[in-house]
Amino acid sequence: MNTTAPISPRRILVTSALPYANGSLHLGHLLEHIQTDIWVRYQRMRGNECHYVCADDTHGTAIMLKAEEQGISPEQLIEQVRTEHIADFNDFLISHDNYYSTHSDENRNFSNSIYLKLKERGFIAERTITQAFDPEKQLFLADRYIKGSCPKCKAADQYGDNCEACGATYSPVDLIDPFSTISGATPVEKDSLHYFFKLPEFAEFLDTWLNNKKLQPAVSNKLREWLEAGLIEWDISRDAPYFGFEIPEAPDKYFYVWLDAPIGYMASFQDYCQRSNINFDEFWDKESAQAAGTELYHFIGKDIINFHGLFWPAIMDASDLRLPSAIFAHGFLSVDGAKMSKSRGTFITARSYLEHFQPEYLRYFFAARLGNSVDDIDLNLEEFVQKCNADLVGKLVNIASRCAGFIGKRFNNTLAIQAENLNLMDELAQAGDDIANAYEQREFSKAMRQIMALADKANQYIDERKPWVIAKQDDSEAELQAICTTGVMAFAQLIAYLKPVLPALAEASEAFLNIPLEWQGNTSRLSGATINKFKPLLQRLDVKTITSLLDDNKKISEPSEKNSPKKTKKKKPSASTDAQDIADEIEIDDFFKVDLRIALITKAEHVEGAEKLLKLSLDLGTEQRTVFSGIKSAYAPSDLEGKLTVMVANLKPRKMRFGMSEGMVLAASDGDGIFILEPHAGAVPGMRVT
Ligand code: MSP
Ligand code: ZN
Repeated sequence: MNTTAPISPRRILVTSALPYANGSLHLGHLLEHIQTDIWVRYQRMRGNECHYVCADDTHGTAIMLKAEEQGISPEQLIEQVRTEHIADFNDFLISHDNYYSTHSDENRNFSNSIYLKLKERGFIAERTITQAFDPEKQLFLADRYIKGSCPKCKAADQYGDNCEACGATYSPVDLIDPFSTISGATPVEKDSLHYFFKLPEFAEFLDTWLNNKKLQPAVSNKLREWLEAGLIEWDISRDAPYFGFEIPEAPDKYFYVWLDAPIGYMASFQDYCQRSNINFDEFWDKESAQAAGTELYHFIGKDIINFHGLFWPAIMDASDLRLPSAIFAHGFLSVDGAKMSKSRGTFITARSYLEHFQPEYLRYFFAARLGNSVDDIDLNLEEFVQKCNADLVGKLVNIASRCAGFIGKRFNNTLAIQAENLNLMDELAQAGDDIANAYEQREFSKAMRQIMALADKANQYIDERKPWVIAKQDDSEAELQAICTTGVMAFAQLIAYLKPVLPALAEASEAFLNIPLEWQGNTSRLSGATINKFKPLLQRLDVKTITSLLDDNKKISEPSEKNSPKKTKKKKPSASTDAQDIADEIEIDDFFKVDLRIALITKAEHVEGAEKLLKLSLDLGTEQRTVFSGIKSAYAPSDLEGKLTVMVANLKPRKMRFGMSEGMVLAASDGDGIFILEPHAGAVPGMRVT
């Protein structure tokens, strides 16, 4: 009995989170869309009606500034980016039914009507708030656009809400010497009227919602913490200039991007409905959806669960929309064990991956790693190559390539009426329900393990029956044909189970097998059938490709010339300096004699009468030092204050004309420029440098 087969087809709408329209897609985005797409393709394969929509998230300050930086309008920017995103998703075989834009008439209309409904029902509050304002740029500044020195450890260049050096959290007004990262100006405080969604009024509703098991346990626990800490009203407005939708009856006020973004799911679906014969209300209107029994699922990353698990359901409830049937959150992708990094080349864009590897290898690797939890996932590139070679080439395609040749050469491409090994066929068929369940539950790694275990069995069978030996024996035609038919039929069933993950491989296999692959029943279709000539279906991957992939991504991330004047100024090392010469070898103990420490430059001053020197006051955590340093030609004192550097702490104090110098700071120099060393974020004064 097939317990998972639906009695009547389910009617499902699925979304992936809307990528921001200010940059290229990377493999983290792909993790989400591949996860969603596998689930969607699985649903469709099981005969369910399953629509999958997405869009670019186009609004907000970041997109406005990015367009300005490129000298184009935001509309031009989002159009360019959308074209690029669509091409990337297509090439990764993501089967969106529609990929729209939040900057659309549909989205404006829905956003307005939802907002007006909230307002009419008394769920919108208005009040004046005080915020940081960039007087030069005439722009209110979100925390991430303000930097300054940490009020606690004095580390320079810290963002407005927390310090990367010491971990302190604070408000941007506490920063020492704050500046706008947009113009460099010192922010001032300014009042303005804002509009708020009265989230606290939905506390009871959200409590029930969180109990309804529509979220993964880890997610509802996290959200419950917030609920219990007390909800606060949600600021849904932003002041002009802003790229977005103007709020009705509120000139120069715009909807905050996160208000209209989830509404973008509706807008994309609406646009799709207009082109196809689907009833929009049956998927979104509270009553119609209930009557029609439709389902709605949002696939998202764990960083945006508050928007989808609290704000969005409250807005839906407040405006008579149906609620999501579930929200499926996934973890974050790391590459080679660490956060994706531009300098290491592991911030891999969708396009650069495609320039080196076929899309289905990544789809398979992600499937083999994805479960239904919010655990993070690591893409270890060597493992990726090995796993794809071992499983897809070594196990799966191998089954067909070991058998198909004989069917072609010896039997004119005709299969036997029956497989020789009916037990194997039964086992393959019976695994179907378990594998289906695993897909349904988003336990893709479990499904992949089961499928590969079956592939192992098919290979074992072929190893035991040795068709290449049988082929040399007399009177063995029927036996050979039956063995090879078994292999081909097993292959067909395995590819059918993998079809949601590997749609292109499935299509090529369908062309080879001459039948459409369905979840089950493929074996009987192949009985006595004529198939086509076998062509190699997948290539082995080469580990060397990894290096060129990483190199290319390092290049992509190198700052453009505009942003790095230093790079273009760089000169060849001049022959007159001996700084380039390598000094004599030393023992490690010699090196350890030098006590290198992280030091905070608390003060830098000109020295009366000194041509080259700056006087630096250094904080070593436990003590203060004064050092005279010959760096005046390269730095103004204000460039240095608040910065961390590295100093030789046990250098014998030297008496100089202007005072005692108690150590030395480290700087690189090629005779043309001087560059003070600065540690990565996280280092604190006093740390030993080895
Ligand atoms: N625009 C918002 C989503 C609005 S949905 C109404 C957004 N955009 S995003 O481009 O930053 O991220 C889009 C999706 O990609 C999010 O679900 C996010 O979690 C996911 N990912 C972005 N980087 C990721 C990884 N490194 N790993 C896995 N998913 C990641 O948020
Ligand atoms: Zn700090």
